[in-house]
Amino acid sequence: MCIMLLLLLLLINLSCVLCSITDPSPKLVIDNDAGGDDAMAIFLALLYEKHYNGPKLIGLTTVNGNTNEDNVCLNNQRVLKIIKRQDVPIYRGSKSSLVRTPDAGHYYGKDGLGDSGKYLDGLKPAHTKNAVEALIDLSKEHKDQLTVVTLGALTNVALAIKLDPDFLSRIAHLYVGAGHIHNDSWPKAEFNAHMDVEAYHVVAAHATPDRVTFLPFSQVQQHCNFTVEWRKDVLGAIPTDIMRAQNLFEQVSLASQESWQALDPAAVAAAINPSLVDEFKFSRHDIVTCGEKRGITTNEFLEKENANARIVYSYKTEKYKQFLLDIFKLE
Ligand SMILES: *[C@@H]1O[C@H](CO)[C@@H](O)[C@H](O)[C@H]1NC(C)=O
Ligand SMILES: *[C@@H]1O[C@H](CO)[C@@H](O)[C@H](O)[C@H]1NC(C)=O
Repeated sequence: MCIMLLLLLLLINLSCVLCSITDPSPKLVIDNDAGGDDAMAIFLALLYEKHYNGPKLIGLTTVNGNTNEDNVCLNNQRVLKIIKRQDVPIYRGSKSSLVRTPDAGHYYGKDGLGDSGKYLDGLKPAHTKNAVEALIDLSKEHKDQLTVVTLGALTNVALAIKLDPDFLSRIAHLYVGAGHIHNDSWPKAEFNAHMDVEAYHVVAAHATPDRVTFLPFSQVQQHCNFTVEWRKDVLGAIPTDIMRAQNLFEQVSLASQESWQALDPAAVAAAINPSLVDEFKFSRHDIVTCGEKRGITTNEFLEKENANARIVYSYKTEKYKQFLLDIFKLE
């Protein structure tokens, strides 16, 4: 009798171990340079995971960008504390770009999150493994299940590809929030693309349309262009602790803008809920690395067979707006 019970317990134990190894549910890593809009994107992913059975966030990886990497790490710790998800590991990444590191300014304030001086207690330290190793290890552990979304410069992902050329072939998909579809209205390099031009080139050079989607900021600016009044008085009026924190995180940037066009939440939204995208196109996609046009991203739209990337061309504007309201009502 006793032996039977022991065997049963052993069997249950074994099946638990097996199912944790082969857990086939979608996983997510957000590589970010938080950043007020990164904070919103991370909140969005975690609320969607909890309430809509969205992909499980299994790591945040940090990169220099909106603010220096020390601040980015601190800001990731603050975001996870606020949303009570300190179980999510933070893996620290690149402190500068591969070749040239431009000065980024202080669009979201000196600390990257609106300089409120709040939410600094009870933070959980970052993981000891670095971001590039973590990206490679997680892509092996969750082969074909892992989606990676980048919200900053592409330094960490480029380094992962350089260390392990099979990295992209093991992940389910890479979504890159960066670049523009350039024309007379968008003549200047986009911030994330400009922050690490060489890294962007490395990623584009290894991209395939089945694995890599770029979300150009120009398309977010056109299709997800809301007034600051809407951001403050409608979305920002939602009375949750998360939205109150988010309002503080954007208080510096909102003060200087008339319209609100946030790349990072739009990038995460397209990755976790692709039905918000109106049109995808296929493109031969790259970035100019030399001369006056350094940082300008280039597209030649053509059929998938000859493309290296998929591009988010337009969003369903009203559906996306409602999505933000629906998600941020949740806690
Ligand atoms: C610029 O390109 C976008 C597509 O990215 C297009 O919708 C827009 O009309 C273009 N503007 C001009 C002035 O060509
Ligand atoms: C965004 O909307 C504002 C009006 O709120 C408008 O002035 C601006 O041209 C729009 N920007 C784009 C890129 O469509």
